[in-house]
Amino acid sequence: MARALVTRPLPEGWLDPLLAAGHHAAWLDDEPLTHDQLVRVVGEHDALICTITDRIDDEVLDAGAGRLRVVGNIGVGYDNIDVAAAMARGIAVCNTPGVLDETTADLAFLLLLAASRRASDAEATLRNGAWTGFRIDAFLGVDVHGATLGIVGFGRIGQAMARRATGFGMNVLHHSRHDTGREGYVSDLDDLLARVDAVSLHVPLTDETRGLIDARRLRLMQDHAVLVNTARGPVVDEEALAVALEDGEIFAAGIDVFEREPQVHPRLLAAPHAVLLPHIGSASEATRRRMGRLACEGAVAVLAGEQPPNLVVY
Ligand code: DGY
Repeated sequence: MARALVTRPLPEGWLDPLLAAGHHAAWLDDEPLTHDQLVRVVGEHDALICTITDRIDDEVLDAGAGRLRVVGNIGVGYDNIDVAAAMARGIAVCNTPGVLDETTADLAFLLLLAASRRASDAEATLRNGAWTGFRIDAFLGVDVHGATLGIVGFGRIGQAMARRATGFGMNVLHHSRHDTGREGYVSDLDDLLARVDAVSLHVPLTDETRGLIDARRLRLMQDHAVLVNTARGPVVDEEALAVALEDGEIFAAGIDVFEREPQVHPRLLAAPHAVLLPHIGSASEATRRRMGRLACEGAVAVLAGEQPPNLVVY
């Protein structure tokens, strides 16, 4: 029987794969473990079940080395984990690909619709008691149907977004590092940004994608364009985005992820036409349960000496 450390309390059933395999899996506190706590206790465990807000760096991995065999990350993005450092210590890393694509694309599309149609401003006005009645010229937004959507990053979630866009009668273009060979591929990101009415980001956070959408690229976008980010906050320069909204360089933004979560740049909070959500892209009950279980299944396989399909290969 192996011992798995869970960095926070999780809903019932999420750890079932570990428990069913006869392992012990538990969290230590009602609150998420701090980095210091993690460093102190990780060495007494064979597996670590964590999520994207847990920083699994050299210090944690050093403390785990010797006993720790696997880190199961409840999240498809694993920029919180120093995978190279884990591999160097013989510690496997698993993530949760494939189970959250549709749920995350649902939220990206929700943000596209809400930002384009100014749903947050309009609802806030109503809730504040400031609605004075129907006005023919109030809350005018931009149409989603018939518009051209540029998808940046054409993996599983980007493709799920494309399917939704097609259903709404949108034209879809996409950009990714490698030619997809698919219709609508645009090799030059700048070119794509200048051509589309809306942009949705679906790239992982890497050295190459950090700051990908900066002030220069925001200026390339059309003044009626909408930017959606459900990928990772640091892919967009948040201050530059706030300025672009303030200056009308783009029309609106729908943002689920932020550069320094849970902090949100005060200028972005105050910027016009911004729909801001607290990183809930994959947050449906069914999907989050599937994610928890998949992370555990990966850990179980590694503990059994097998190579799970969700092993992160670096
Ligand atoms: C992920 O999985 O990487 C999301 O950001 C959280 O679901």
